[in-house]
Amino acid sequence: MLLKNSLHISHELVSKVVQQGDVVIDATMGNGNDTLFLAKLVGDCGKVFAFDVQQLALDNTKKKLIEAEVFDRTELIQDGHQNIDKYIQGGIKAVMFNLGYLPKGDHSIGTRAETTIEAVEKCLELLCKEGIVMIVIYYGGDSGFEEKNAVMEYFKTLDCKKYAVLVHDFVNQVNCPPIAVCIEKMI
Ligand SMILES: C[S@@+](CC[C@H](N)C(=O)[O-])C[C@H]1O[C@@H](n2cnc3c(N)ncnc32)[C@H](O)[C@@H]1O
Repeated sequence: MLLKNSLHISHELVSKVVQQGDVVIDATMGNGNDTLFLAKLVGDCGKVFAFDVQQLALDNTKKKLIEAEVFDRTELIQDGHQNIDKYIQGGIKAVMFNLGYLPKGDHSIGTRAETTIEAVEKCLELLCKEGIVMIVIYYGGDSGFEEKNAVMEYFKTLDCKKYAVLVHDFVNQVNCPPIAVCIEKMI
């Protein structure tokens, strides 16, 4: 099929932008799949900062990174992504968010509209020119619709002179397939 799912599109866009030596962020570490993907992209002279509020996410991710021999180029931080500016001052090439809850984890510890929007706002400030924030929105089911609706409204408010916002959504599919949103900082 020509039209790939949101996860595939998110990885494709991020890998077009991120180069060896770049500094990037995984804002929702979870089981570490995106942290590992980013760690491979930045190479051994790059750096990945990864955030999650749950100890389980840090444990699972650390194991994965050690197995792949890329742990030394990562920094795993147990804190909410809304506090990202306490740890990073700028020069970021790409940020990845997967909204929702930890697969096979506690469905009540999911991302929330208010903190997600605060984090995305801060990440946009931290981005370098032509950097991207890539957000995959899982919604419906236990996640509900509140966060998805709020973030989609927020994206529409971003200044079109500064940011290009692309939405990838299969509008005729059933069961709320994830939506990918890519924000590119143009200036
Ligand atoms: C859909 S999962 C991420 C999946 C992950 N990308 C992976 O590859 O497995 C969402 C994650 O966001 C985390 N989370 C929830 N609120 C958060 C917050 N305020 N800051 C950072 N992470 C948060 C959850 O604990 C959960 O692990």
